[in-house]
Amino acid sequence: MRSITEREHDVIFQTYSRLPIEIASASGCRITAMDGTVYLDFLGGIAVNALGHSHPHVVQNVIDQAKRYMHVSNFFYQEPQVRLAELLRDASGYQRVFFTNSGAEATDGAMKMARRYGSKAGRYDVVGFSGGFHGRTYGALSIMDKPLYKEGMGPFLPNTLVLPYNDVDALTSRVDTTTCAIMLEFVQGEGGLREATPEFVDALAAIQRDLGVLIIADEVQAGIGRTGSFFAFERYGIKPDIVICAKAIGGGLPLGAILATEEAAALFDRGMHGTTYGGNAVACAAGIAVMEEVLGGQMEHVQQIGTYLHTHLLAVQRAHPTLVSEIRGRGCMQGIVLTTEAAPFVQALLKRGVIANATAGTVIRLVPPYIITETDVDEFVAALHDVLAAA
Ligand SMILES: Cc1ncc(COP(=O)(O)O)c(C=O)c1O
Repeated sequence: MRSITEREHDVIFQTYSRLPIEIASASGCRITAMDGTVYLDFLGGIAVNALGHSHPHVVQNVIDQAKRYMHVSNFFYQEPQVRLAELLRDASGYQRVFFTNSGAEATDGAMKMARRYGSKAGRYDVVGFSGGFHGRTYGALSIMDKPLYKEGMGPFLPNTLVLPYNDVDALTSRVDTTTCAIMLEFVQGEGGLREATPEFVDALAAIQRDLGVLIIADEVQAGIGRTGSFFAFERYGIKPDIVICAKAIGGGLPLGAILATEEAAALFDRGMHGTTYGGNAVACAAGIAVMEEVLGGQMEHVQQIGTYLHTHLLAVQRAHPTLVSEIRGRGCMQGIVLTTEAAPFVQALLKRGVIANATAGTVIRLVPPYIITETDVDEFVAALHDVLAAA
């Protein structure tokens, strides 16, 4: 019989570099392969499975909602959508929510809001930053700089530009009243877990205040409690006008959201924006479970386990100073910056039964489920020590 891997090679677009694992099942922070190997999952479905795989609360909500109804479309009023929006509003302070299916769709929706805002004053430029990641749509790619994602796909959207991240001079000299919005990650996931500097965010806040430029926070990866605060931007003195989220909010189902102030939400009139599936009842039911768990204690756990992980990663750095140059990030979003390519170490970790991934060339990215325990961290750190020592 042909393997899943062989059949995949025949029939699916060959766009993904998959790990050599055929999945049998997954539960909590463990993935079981068809050959019976059990892996410790510090990738969490690329920062999606905040509560781990198939959390009982998520599963129960999904089953209950699927029995009631699954999809009726946005022609109708639906309790799960409204309840999840209320939970997001109360947790974030943003009055209004627009549900999407993905992070990229939220990016593009937010960019359309920015252009609507700018069109009244003839200001059209939308700014992104080097190392940023906002998705694979044309809007998102237009404000990103990684060549691989854009090669031969241009031309991209006009009036978009990418400025160097954390560069106050570049920011203040280029952004003016022709700019309608700036989108950024306060912790760059794909970009190697780089955090915005306080000076950079102060400059953004001044631009928002003095020039009326909209600030759009991309919290798709860092949001919903992953860094120990509900949103990563909360550690700074800024209130973005628009926030986009996805990944963790769906508990493993496709769901994203644009959160906005009353004023920003009013940029879209009735009928101006929409989606067939966005806010799907089953996905929102899963999201309700995520919110209840995150707000019901998991976020505090992220702070505590994040500190534990950080302390142990710093010890790894001290033990391997020629290989590990820096430990970045916080909570359940941390990166081990190596002095060499990260990919071979990620492969070596996999052989030790641990799943992580390499990003930005030299960074091992850890975005584990929030539910990891000290024992899980100890297991990860022991594996990391071994693969670094063997190098
Ligand atoms: C910060 C950030 N924004 C946007 C996206 C795009 O989300 P999606 O893949 O759901 O379109 C991602 C995905 O990795 C992300 O990390």
